[in-house]
Amino acid sequence: MSLIRSVILGCGGYLPENVLTNEDLAKIVDTSDEWIYSRTGIRQRHIVAEGEMTSDLGTKAALQALERAGVEGPDIDLILLATSTPDNTFPATAVTIQANIGAHQGVAFDLQAVCSGFVFGLATADNFLKSGQFKRALVIGAETFSRILDWEDRNTCVLFGDGAGAVVLEAQKLNSSADDRGILLTELRSDGRHRDKLYVDGGPSSTGTVGHLRMHGREVFRHAVTNISEVINRTLELSGYSADQIDWFVPHQANKRILDGTARKIGLDPEKIVMTVDKHANTSAASIPLALNTALEDGRLKEGNLVLMEAMGGGFTWGSALIKY
Ligand code: ACO
Repeated sequence: MSLIRSVILGCGGYLPENVLTNEDLAKIVDTSDEWIYSRTGIRQRHIVAEGEMTSDLGTKAALQALERAGVEGPDIDLILLATSTPDNTFPATAVTIQANIGAHQGVAFDLQAVCSGFVFGLATADNFLKSGQFKRALVIGAETFSRILDWEDRNTCVLFGDGAGAVVLEAQKLNSSADDRGILLTELRSDGRHRDKLYVDGGPSSTGTVGHLRMHGREVFRHAVTNISEVINRTLELSGYSADQIDWFVPHQANKRILDGTARKIGLDPEKIVMTVDKHANTSAASIPLALNTALEDGRLKEGNLVLMEAMGGGFTWGSALIKY
């Protein structure tokens, strides 16, 4: 057996210093810690400082991932930034990060799949690496959702936060199935019929403004549990693994109730869910690498562990990635 796998060499994360608690929010809109926590599991979120941009967050997470991977900017030949909150309409925020980390070769571009962006980024990088076109990739999820929230809308402003996470992937040739590691399988889905259930009401070619996030919360909730369960079941079926063989479930952190509902539906032990939504809220494309980083830093996640990631977001988009760490 000889196959190429995309192996994670290092992971990094960054959260802005400023913390906004549910109690702080209750001074801005008509809400309470009790309401927010009981419906979402969120206690607090991090918010960028004035002048702090998505590229700043992404650069910090990327530099930490590079250091932990033992590589430097020039060793990277593909940079994929998953974000819905770029610094500017163009150029891609990925090229700013490319310049900041000194990766002056290869290619850098942004990828937009909202909360599913990191999983879409992993799948895209994996296919480039497996094809032999690139050797090392940096996949980053970085968001400043605080800039697109309507801070007068209690239905949405309580749910999101800012942050960034990143992984360095390397194409490695494996000679025996006993050594198998890296990204084993990815599954991606989109269904544009639901694009009006979670969206931003502005953009360069429609209103000429940045716009604000709008959401039909109940509809999103209903589709989330169904779609995520479907894609996970398909991933397990194709890979030959069962739910009880998963060591860690590292999902997109939107809402504790969505994660508990999904775990119940697929028969996964709730103890195996890496949950960071209480401290970070929903950081969209950044939430999976931030959760991964948390589980690596606290020592829960170890080499050889089987890790299942999943996400769903606006579009709708959704997907999963199964990884042997
Ligand atoms: N504080 C207090 N009351 C509130 C708040 C708030 N922050 N927000 C809404 N309410 C009120 C509503 O106005 C409503 O009041 P009314 O009955 O007088 O009209 C009441 O609370 C109930 O509102 P519902 O929308 O029915 O509340 P629900 O139990 O459905 O919870 C929630 C809302 C938390 C948004 C839920 O629908 C949800 O989690 N949806 C998924 C949304 C999500 O996770 N989106 C993230 C992006 S997508 C993704 O990443 C998967």
